[in-house]
Amino acid sequence: MNRHIAIDGPAGSGKSTIAKIVAARRGLIYVDTGAMYRAMAIHFLRLGLSADDEEGITKACESADVTIDYVDGQQQVILCGENVTPYLRKEETGKMASASSVYAAVRTKMTILQQKLAAEKTVVMDGRDIGTVVLPDAFLKVYMTASADVRAKRRFDELTAKGETPDFETLKAEIIERDYRDSHREIAPLKQADDAFLLDTSDMGIDMVAGYVLGLYDERNTHFSDGE
Ligand code: DC
Repeated sequence: MNRHIAIDGPAGSGKSTIAKIVAARRGLIYVDTGAMYRAMAIHFLRLGLSADDEEGITKACESADVTIDYVDGQQQVILCGENVTPYLRKEETGKMASASSVYAAVRTKMTILQQKLAAEKTVVMDGRDIGTVVLPDAFLKVYMTASADVRAKRRFDELTAKGETPDFETLKAEIIERDYRDSHREIAPLKQADDAFLLDTSDMGIDMVAGYVLGLYDERNTHFSDGE
């Protein structure tokens, strides 16, 4: 039986922070699927493609070679032989990732790659469609969310700590727009799997959320080790 953990949720819900902690504490491999969509987005941006050019993006998928590597336990995303990890978090990359991830060619390519990774290792995988499409038989599924205000505030603090001077209302509007696009697309939209645990992290600290997910995982492991 697989012991994969699938964590889905909207931007800023804290899923990658929690997925990393859970993976490290239980010796599992963390796979950030958003980073893979972002690497594809870099490929499209470098080719000068616009987000509404489905034909161009579909064709460009053929030349996009995305692979994952780990350095000191940190996921690195390799695009056509180049480590593009330092460029993944840029705002324009995130926008292009959200816009281009609506296309069938992009989703099929990423889903196949993610399923291949899970066939090789036991993973904690985070994204938008992991519990619903990529790993529908995951051992544990968690759907994390938080209010748009809280998520915008987390992003605001992150950018401020980096010395940037973001506008809170603009960040909030971008988050709401991204939520809408990710959850209203036709293929594999962001949604809670029927058998996922729902976790609203608006009023929870990182330790509390991580403890909750670790507890769920350990409980299931005990249950299944007992042969029940
Ligand atoms: O989690 P993130 O912000 O790095 O994701 C960037 C975009 O990639 C997100 O807005 C939608 C897309 N994405 C997706 O469609 N499916 C996933 N499993 C992960 C990300």
